[in-house]
Amino acid sequence: MAGEARAVAAPAVPGAAVLGPTGRPVTDFPVPPPLTGVGPARIIAMCNQKGGVGKTTTTINLGAALAEYGRKVLLVDFDPQGALSVGLGVNPHELQRTVYTLLMDRRTDVRDVVHRSRVPGVDVLPANIDLSAAEVQLVNEVAREQALVRGLRGAMDDYDVIIVDCQPSLGLLTVNALTAAHGVIIPLECEFFALRGVALLVETIEKVQDRLNPALQLDGILATMHDARTLHSREVVARVVEAFGDRVFETVIGRTVKFPDASVAAEPITTYAPTHGGATAYRQLARELVARGGAA
Ligand SMILES: Nc1ncnc2c1ncn2[C@@H]1O[C@H](COP(=O)(O)OP(=O)(O)O)[C@@H](O)[C@H]1O
Ligand SMILES: [Mg+2]
Repeated sequence: MAGEARAVAAPAVPGAAVLGPTGRPVTDFPVPPPLTGVGPARIIAMCNQKGGVGKTTTTINLGAALAEYGRKVLLVDFDPQGALSVGLGVNPHELQRTVYTLLMDRRTDVRDVVHRSRVPGVDVLPANIDLSAAEVQLVNEVAREQALVRGLRGAMDDYDVIIVDCQPSLGLLTVNALTAAHGVIIPLECEFFALRGVALLVETIEKVQDRLNPALQLDGILATMHDARTLHSREVVARVVEAFGDRVFETVIGRTVKFPDASVAAEPITTYAPTHGGATAYRQLARELVARGGAA
């Protein structure tokens, strides 16, 4: 039950709209129509300076769900921990060329750094501990906030969606991701301090909009690790909706051990447990994102 995409309450009045966990009527988002060509890519930054909120899990599973709908997807590991790479079956630790090379060496062709993942339609730009040096090294570079957008330029026509899985910080790497991005998704764990720090994140997004990337949009806030059985989870979602209104995705991701299980297997939940509620939820998120214009 905790893995279900929506905790559907029976309507109090027969015939009235069924309300989802965000308190809005449940929408049946349409399956996205097939695309005729590939690209240009829309870049999404997956951001929250708090760790353990579901950034990497959402990047992998939203990416895999979009690929199921025929989208060509590139997932960029932008965290020196390399969890995204590992989670997609790419061992980044011995690699010579990673996203770090792409940032620091202008001669690097992004296509030489990209790896196929096990998931059809999903490629990975891996990261390893080398990336932890980039933050310091970029500081003295010209156009230090634009290193990622420059590096990704050569991939824009090869993909429909590029999702950048940020590290838990608001430093220069995250600013690079926000500068490269068309949209931001903020995952929030459904626990008591979920909103703490979000004001600072929103302020950072606004600064980037002001100074570096006026076209940047907030694609949505995603409630993760929701437990429909607890009053607590429901209260957190209610508070998040109070603060952000319609910017909160109607799709809510339930808390289930299937997600850590799938990471151990280095697979998205959509292939590890294709019929599980967690897989259904990320497919729904993919459809909602497309319906909102956040992906082609
Ligand atoms: N919906 C969920 N239910 C249960 N566990 C989850 C869920 N989403 C993520 N996790 C687990 O929580 C941990 C942190 O998630 P992760 O996606 O790595 O967060 P972040 O990238 O924000 O640090 C991981 O062990 C992951 O498997
Ligand atoms: Mg992560």
